[in-house]
Parts: sequence; structure tokens; C-alpha cells
Amino acid sequence: MSRIPRPIVDQIREATDIVAVVSKHVRLERKGNTWLGLCPFHQERTPSFNVIPNKAMYYCFGCQAGGDCFRFLMQLEGLSFVEAVKELAQAAGIVIPERELTPEERKALRQRAQWFDAMDEAAAFYESVLWTRPEGEVARKYLEKRGLSPEMAQKARVGFAPSGWSTLFDQLRRMGFDANLLHEVGLVRQRKEGQGYYDTFRDRLLFPIRDEKGRVIAFGGRILEGDGPKYINTPETQFYQKSQVLYGLDLARAGIQQKNRVLVVEGYFDVLSLHQAGFTEAVASCGTALTVEHLEKIRRFTENVIVLLDADAAGTRAAEKVLPLALRAGLQPWRLQLPGAKDPDELIREHGVEAMESALQQKVPLLEWTIDRRLESRGHNAVGRQKTLEELIPDIRDLPASVWSSVASRLHMPESSVVEQIRRYVPPQPPDEGADNEWQEPIPVTHSWRPQRDVVHLIWLLVHHHARVADILHRIDPTFLEDHAPVRSAIARLAAGEPVAALLPEISDAEVAKTLKAVVARAELYTEEQAAVGMCEVLERILAPRRELRLNEQLRRMEEALRTGDLPAHRAAGQEKSQLMAVKKAIKAALQKKDVVAYLAALEADVAQK
Ligand code: GTP
Ligand code: MN
Repeated sequence: MSRIPRPIVDQIREATDIVAVVSKHVRLERKGNTWLGLCPFHQERTPSFNVIPNKAMYYCFGCQAGGDCFRFLMQLEGLSFVEAVKELAQAAGIVIPERELTPEERKALRQRAQWFDAMDEAAAFYESVLWTRPEGEVARKYLEKRGLSPEMAQKARVGFAPSGWSTLFDQLRRMGFDANLLHEVGLVRQRKEGQGYYDTFRDRLLFPIRDEKGRVIAFGGRILEGDGPKYINTPETQFYQKSQVLYGLDLARAGIQQKNRVLVVEGYFDVLSLHQAGFTEAVASCGTALTVEHLEKIRRFTENVIVLLDADAAGTRAAEKVLPLALRAGLQPWRLQLPGAKDPDELIREHGVEAMESALQQKVPLLEWTIDRRLESRGHNAVGRQKTLEELIPDIRDLPASVWSSVASRLHMPESSVVEQIRRYVPPQPPDEGADNEWQEPIPVTHSWRPQRDVVHLIWLLVHHHARVADILHRIDPTFLEDHAPVRSAIARLAAGEPVAALLPEISDAEVAKTLKAVVARAELYTEEQAAVGMCEVLERILAPRRELRLNEQLRRMEEALRTGDLPAHRAAGQEKSQLMAVKKAIKAALQKKDVVAYLAALEADVAQK
């Protein structure tokens, strides 16, 4: 996570009054145990934004934004996690201890600082050439022609590399930078013959590529006149990997969070035009296809990824590649096609901001678009739809149920049939068959999780009436409750008494995190008096189906044994059957009497739990 030790983070969270933090930005009114206001993360007229101080969390029922005090500042102000922690630490008067560095670490840190210094000085040099020197004139004219305002260009630190072979090199050497370092960061190249270096960028308009913190890590240089490739980029280095970096993310962070969406475009100019036009949620993927790493970065800020792609074959292929990556990363991908323009820069320049606005209204979920496209080629009849579903299953089987149901409705197929097929789906290479062909769990091989009512109730009880229910849960093997590992571990940690706010940042499964947040804000499902019995009832609803399966299994064995005349087997299965029947009876009686102790005693005897 971060370099701030977890106990310190927890301490800061505990010391922070989340109502006070939120109140600086949102007018809150008290309503019982929670505070209510208009959500700052989406437009609304009636308040659905809840702050729950005794859980140190907030949650909006309208847009599902939620989390702890750190998350709030990250979402609202675009701070990084560490920045948010530092800010609230200061407010709470808590000092974050600095660890002593080893000599190697100190050396590495110094080198890193020099690395970033060199890039920063280079950017400053190129800026000064652009804005203050006669050589910059051509680039200033060009920017004007492209309609990019000086304010926007300056915000993005656009610069111009003059035409000499070593203007930058000489300048930075005079400032004391080591030639080796300048080579390492990619600002200069080694001469083929003889010794020495020459500038990487000459006679080009430069877009500094910055990391999320705004530090320059590379440059993209556009040719203005003459021959040569349209763009050249700094080679990849330790701090600049194309597959990781999104151009403009430092400028877009706050915009992405406020609008709860990101616009992924192709070019530097597109990003800057969009920002200038008020679409401050735009980033670009520096001329490469979107990668999982890009999407992971995005996921920290929003779920909604709007991918602007060409309508041509290449754009279509790119879209198809993004779909499984985005869905697997827990994101909601959208496809946006621009009418009558090759890119957003051109669209805005020629048809204005409104054209971009209305294009955005036309975005379609990438999943639906993909399904429709496949139906076009496979046919809309039953066979075509079935074929389309089969092709999609490998991509969607690990995804939350909400995705399955949107697939079902798009394909006009009953949800139950889609779910059934997904459950039956066997991946191409079957896992090693174990020797154990004893009773096999009939539970599907899937890693997706759908928040089922009973598990949600169980979690609600743990979060809101921990003292009343945790002991009950400790008697049960968690593997019987839930087979999705992230949920199981969340349940175990809540049962162990960990506060939900402390747990949340460590949950990477989007569906699980969403459910937890909603559970915290959810109105009372059980009173404190009802909690213990309620927990038993919930447990029973979760555990009973397994017991029934076990019972059926014994009946089947008895029949089988009768057929083959295996009397000992018949007797053994019969005994187990009677035991299960007795357990069922005892449980039913205990629940009728609302007797928690008797229920737990009956469970102890339940062979299905062993
Ligand atoms: P304009 O054509 O001036 O509007 O620039 P653009 O940024 O819109 O460029 P374009 O749409 O042609 O390309 C999109 C992105 O792909 C660019 O921003 C670059 O990141 C990358 N790219 C384009 N051409 C080249 C090239 O010749 N070399 C490299 N390395 N990248 C390129
Ligand atoms: Mn362009």
C-alpha cells in the first residue's frame, strides 16, 4: 500500500472526526446515528449521501461513492492516499514516524532526486525557449493555429526544442548535471562515432509526460516542419514505461473523480483540447494500446472508462481487446465514436464544445456494443445468440452477477439460462483430477461473487452488532459460509473485530468493496435484541442447502447399496441420514424457540459441517 505503517494509518483514522472533514465540503444534517447531505460526487436534489461517524465512513446510495476519511479527500480533492493520510495526520496532530534510511537507500534517493531534477530543468529550458526566445516563434504560431491557448499550454508545460545539436546538453551541463545522468534519463543520445552526446529532441514541439504527482518523466516531441517521424518519445526508462503511464493523468485526477469517469483518447493534442474545453477528465495512452496497468491506475479514481476509438477495423480490434481487461479490472467500459471528426481535438475545433457534449451522450457500454456487433455477424436468431453467449463466457465467467444479467438481457435470454451455462462452463484445460471422488461439492468453479441476501445480512450483523454475533460466528468454519475468498476473509476479519473502515482499503474486489460500503450505510435490519437470533437464522439459511445435499447424497447411497446388495454401506448411509434428520429437527426446534444456545449445540452435531 504505502510506506506509512498501517497502525499509524488506523490511528489517524480513529483520531479523525469524519463528520468534521466532510462538513467542510458538504452541508450535513443529523439523522439518528448518521448524517445526511447532498452528495458532492454526483448531481442530486434529495440527499442520499450518508456519513456514519461510528463506522468512520461515508456512503452515497445514489452513486455508491464511499469509504473512509482518506478516501473522501482522495475522491473530492484528487489527493493520493499518502497525501490524504498526511493531511489528516497534521490535522489530528499525529506525527508520521520517518524510518531511518540505510546508506544505499539514501544514495538511491539522491539519485532519484537528481533524475527528476534533470527532467524538470529540461522542461523548464524547453518552456523558456518556447515562450521567450525568437526560435520559439514558429512553435507559438503553431499552437495558435491549433487553437491551444497559452494558459492551457503552460499548464501542460508545453515547450520547444531548438534546432542545435547540443543546446539542452550544454545548458544542463552548465547547471552541473552529469553527462551520464542526462543519457540515462533519455534527454541526450550517445554519438555513434567519437565521443560525446547530442540532444534527443531538436526542432520539435515538446509535451512533457508527467506522472500522477506531476513530475516530468519523459517527453513526446512533435515535428512541426520538415521530414521525420511525426512524434519521437523519450526511450523507456526506470520511471517511464509506456504500458504504465497515462498522459495527462496529473491534470485529470481531480476531474476524473469529480465526474466519475475518464475519457481515454489517443493524442497529446486531444488531451489538451479536451481539458481546454472543460473535459478535465481526459487522458491519453501515449500511442500504445490500453494495458491492464493503465486500467489498474484508472480504477483508483473511477469505474467508468470511456474509450474513444476509431470506427475502423483497428479501432474495433482495440475495443474488443479492452473489454475483457476492463471488465476483469472491475471497470465499466464505454465505447465512444465521434461523428464527423477524426479525433476529439478536430471535433472541438470544428464543431465546438457542444458537439463533444452530445457525442458523449451517445456512448454505449462496450459490452453491449460487443454483443450487438457479434449478433450482427452471428445472426439474431436463437443459434446466433447462443453462439455469441458461448464466445463471451470465458471473458465474463469471473465477473460479478450484474454483468451476467446485462449480458442476458442484451441477448434476450433468460438470466437463469445464462447463469446455468456459465456455471456449467469448463475451461479448456481442466485442472488435475484429484484422486478424491468422494462427495464432490456441487458448487461451480467460478471466482465471481454475487452479493446474496443472506451473506449481506450476515455482514450487516457483524458490522452493526459485532458484540452480539461475533461469538456465534466463531463456532463455524468460514469455508462453509462463503466460497469467494475475498468475502470469506472480510467476514473473518470483521468477526475478529477489525473495523470495517480499516478493512476496506485492502479489498481489491470491486463488488465486495461496494457491498461492504452499502452495508455500513444500510438502515437497521435487526435491532440489538434481534441480532443474535437473526444471526442464527441467517446462518441457517446459508447452511441448510448444504445439509439437504448431503441428505440427498445419503439417500442415493442407500438406494445404490440396496441395488448392489452392499448391506454395510446401506447401514452406514442410513445412520448418517438419521443423524442429519435429527440435526434438522433439533435446529428447527431451536429456531422456533429462538434459542441461540440450543441452535449452536445442534450445529455441533451436524455432520454436514464437518
Ligand atoms: P496531431 O496529429 O498533431 O493532432 O497529433 P496527435 O497527438 O493527435 O497525433 P495522432 O492522432 O497522429 O497520434 C496519436 C498519438 O500516437 C500521438 O499523440 C503519439 O503519442 C502517438 N504517435 C503518433 N505518431 C507517432 C509517431 O510517429 N511515433 C511515435 N512514437 N508515436 C506516435
Ligand atoms: Mn490529432
